[in-house]
Amino acid sequence: MNYRHSYHAGNHADVFKHALLRQLLVLMQRKDTPLCCLDSHAGTAFYDLQGEAAGKTGEYVEGIGRLWTRDDLPLWLADYRDAVARHNPDGQLRWYPGSPQIMAELLREQDRMILSELHPEDADTLRQYFAPQPDIAVHQRDGYELPKAFLPVAEKRALWLLDPPFEKTDDLQRCVAAVQQAISRMRQTVIAIWYPIKDQRLLKDFYQGIADSGAPKALRVELNVRPADNQLGLNGSGMMLINPPWPIWEELEQVLLWLSQELAQSGGGSWRMDWLAGAP
Ligand SMILES: C[S@@+](CC[C@H](N)C(=O)[O-])C[C@H]1O[C@@H](n2cnc3c(N)ncnc32)[C@H](O)[C@@H]1O
Repeated sequence: MNYRHSYHAGNHADVFKHALLRQLLVLMQRKDTPLCCLDSHAGTAFYDLQGEAAGKTGEYVEGIGRLWTRDDLPLWLADYRDAVARHNPDGQLRWYPGSPQIMAELLREQDRMILSELHPEDADTLRQYFAPQPDIAVHQRDGYELPKAFLPVAEKRALWLLDPPFEKTDDLQRCVAAVQQAISRMRQTVIAIWYPIKDQRLLKDFYQGIADSGAPKALRVELNVRPADNQLGLNGSGMMLINPPWPIWEELEQVLLWLSQELAQSGGGSWRMDWLAGAP
């Protein structure tokens, strides 16, 4: 396990993932009924963008850095940027909230959250940080085990962020298997899978696997900030949304348009959004 998110926190993929995650939760909370959030590959609660790791890559500069002072953000992006800004009250961009914190600060009295993180240091930090919040449980275990361990949840409503590091070539396949397992245990589970857009051959199998998974609905949402043949690193990423709360199409379109234009590097960004299963 080599991956450390501190090198990548706040980059274009985090902006895309966290802005969408936040709104999925907000939309699910339109109903008063309780909700269980699951974050299977949680990372940690905060990242120091002035720290050594983030400083080495500087990735956040072309991510959250590009939204930081903008006053023309679409609603969902403004909401996300303001959430990050609340942790940096002096206006200097330093503390970046990870996915557990993004969800934690939205939890209502009736909601709870289950986190899993395999890295001992991050799991320990999470455990200490969330210790005062009894509605948040932290487990140091394999995130792919979450459906078997926790679904169905008593609340009957769940939002699961599935955000593995994709260090291994079978991670996309494992995501498909996890979706199948989650759906068979609790059909209405809302799942947001973040994935890198890299190997088209592996992605083709992933798309097919999701389409055939039995998921009632699957919306593929993708953002590229650089042309696909660029050799600089991660050019784009996707969020596969299983059973997304609805309607979100128009808001998502605005977000994707803005991000593909304003986060673009090396001559171009692009986006796409389509249904792989259950088009309305
Ligand atoms: C992409 S990062 C998570 C970022 C975080 N979800 C966020 O958005 O702020 C992936 C995390 O998964 C952890 N990890 C790797 N393999 C895991 C596994 N099998 N189960 C749970 N966590 C794992 C890594 O240590 C890393 O912190």
